[in-house]
Amino acid sequence: MNFAARIDAAITDAIRQGQAAPSPAKLASALHYTVTPGGARIRPSILMSVAGACGDRTPALSDAAAAALELIHCASLVHDDLPCFDDADTRRGKPAVHRAFGEPLAVLTGDSLIIMAFEVLARAAEHDPAQAAKLMLILANRSGMPNGICAGQGWESEDGVDLRAYHRAKTGALFMAATQMGAVAAGEDAEPWEELGARIGEAFQVADDLRDALYDEETLGKPVGQDDLHGRPNAVTEFGIQGAIAHMREILTGAIASIPKCPGEAQLAKLVKAQAEVLTPIKWRAAHQTTPGT
Ligand code: IPE
Ligand code: IPE
Ligand code: MG
Ligand code: MG
Repeated sequence: MNFAARIDAAITDAIRQGQAAPSPAKLASALHYTVTPGGARIRPSILMSVAGACGDRTPALSDAAAAALELIHCASLVHDDLPCFDDADTRRGKPAVHRAFGEPLAVLTGDSLIIMAFEVLARAAEHDPAQAAKLMLILANRSGMPNGICAGQGWESEDGVDLRAYHRAKTGALFMAATQMGAVAAGEDAEPWEELGARIGEAFQVADDLRDALYDEETLGKPVGQDDLHGRPNAVTEFGIQGAIAHMREILTGAIASIPKCPGEAQLAKLVKAQAEVLTPIKWRAAHQTTPGT
C-alpha cells in the first residue's frame, strides 16, 4: 500500500471503531462526514515520508501516528469553524459540521476526534510501548497548551499578537508533530526533526494566508478573506503578495537545509522542493521559477 492508502485505511478504521454500536447515529455520522473527503492530508503525508526516510521500522505505529495526527487536525477544523471562533459556513467544499449537524454535535465531533486520536495511539502501543508513549506525548504537546493548537487559537483572544508565535502554535505545531512523530514511529529521536517541521509549518501558514487573500470560496472550498474580516495578523498584510511568496520560498530553502541525516534524505529534500511549487499560488508560479535548494 502507498502512503495515501495506508493513511486512509488507518483513519477509516478509527472512525469505524468510533461508530460501533451502541453509538448515537447522528454523532456517528458526523464523525464520518468530518473526515470524508479528506482534504490534502499534508500532515500525515509528511509524517509517513519522514517515517519512510528513516526506514519505517514499525509500519503499524506509523499508520497509527498518521491517523492520530490527521484526526487532531480534523477536530481542530470543526472547532475552528464554529460560530464562537471563525463562524465559517463551509469546509472542504461542503457545509461545515455545525451547519450540517448543529453546534452541539459539532462540539462533540471535535471532542470525539481528539479523544479518538489518543485511543488510536494507545491501541498501537502493543507494537512498541516506549515509542507509542513518546508519540502520545508529542501529539499532546503539539495540540494543547502552552505550545499547541489550543495556544495558537488562544492568541486570537489576546490584544497584542506576535505573528511568528501565533503561526508557530496555530499551524506550525502540527507540522512539527508530523516530522517528529514520523521519526519516532521509525524508532528515531524526535529532537533533530523539530526544525524541519517548524519550517514547513511556517511556509504552509504563509501559503494559507496567500490563498485566503487571493482565491475564491469555490476554489478553496472554505470562506476566503477571513484574515481581513477578523482583523488577524497575516503574512500578506505584513509583506505584500510578492513579498509573502518570496518569504515562503526562502523558508522552504531553510527547511531543506535542516533535514537530518537519514537514509531517505535526498527523497525528502525533493518532496520539500515540490511543496514550494504546490504552495505558490498558480498565477504567481512563473514569476518565481527558481526552486529553493537549486
Ligand atoms: C487548513 O489546513 C488549516 C490551516 C492550518 C491553515 P489544510 O489546508 O491542511 O486543510 P485540509 O485538511 O487540506 O482541508
Ligand atoms: C485554522 O486556522 C487552524 C487551526 C488551528 C484550526 P484558520 O482559521 O486560519 O484556517 P482556515 O482558513 O479556517 O482553514
Ligand atoms: Mg481560525
Ligand atoms: Mg478558520
